[in-house]
Amino acid sequence: MGLMEISAKDLRRRTVRRFLEDLGSKSGVENIETAIKHMYAPDLKIWIGYTCRSRGFLVFQRSFKAQQFVSSFHSNQFMGSACKDEREEVIQAWYMDDSNEDQRLPHHREPKEFVSLDKLAELGVLSWRLDADNYETDEGLKKIREARGYSYMDFCDICPEKLPNYEEKIKSFFEEHLHTDEEIRYCVAGSGYFDVRDAKDGWIRVWVKKGGMIVLPAGIYHRFTLDTDNYIKAMRLFVGDPIWTPFNRPHDHLPARKEYLEAFVEKGDAVDAAA
Ligand SMILES: [Fe+2]
Repeated sequence: MGLMEISAKDLRRRTVRRFLEDLGSKSGVENIETAIKHMYAPDLKIWIGYTCRSRGFLVFQRSFKAQQFVSSFHSNQFMGSACKDEREEVIQAWYMDDSNEDQRLPHHREPKEFVSLDKLAELGVLSWRLDADNYETDEGLKKIREARGYSYMDFCDICPEKLPNYEEKIKSFFEEHLHTDEEIRYCVAGSGYFDVRDAKDGWIRVWVKKGGMIVLPAGIYHRFTLDTDNYIKAMRLFVGDPIWTPFNRPHDHLPARKEYLEAFVEKGDAVDAAA
């Protein structure tokens, strides 16, 4: 295998293996994977930042800081819970199958291929678990809004009884599109699926339930559908006056799309090239 053919994953595994060997460790493959997951990835993220061009680097810095903010927020929440990521009780993600069955079904692959919230963060998708029963007084939500400048807030109820032209709207939400700003949704009741494209254009289905809050970065292709429970009440947040305009795919020429690719997709190419 030539140097240019080494994948980012192989590079990480080789480097961590070498590190463990230098320490004289007899650790097996499992410990290498653990080391990659818990120790090496943050360094890799910093290193990737330096390989980006100036504008992309700035976008990346913002996203990296955002992820640091998510991490610190949840590390405070998880003290005393054996580091269990409680977000996973209200937000789960998995790769979708290619079936044309009802969009409201889970569409798991066979076998199931779950996606970690860390992997979502690498795509720029941020997530939190919040207290949906007390959103009006929740200090956690307040902290996020202040840190990220989310000055605007409203709610949308999506269900057949409350949404005019329900069937038509549900179809339009499911059209693949992007926005020129973040899409921020906090599920305070019900549940729904936010599908996002990964770096290789595969669909990842993100199931958000009561208490789950996600941020889709500007420029990511995505879509939304209810699940078979047919109900979600979501808080919508925004920086300043809201702009909800969807740009259906393809809209690759938009600056927001180019900046997204520079910050979250081409960084993977940079790792492969460096290998
Ligand atoms: Fe959207």
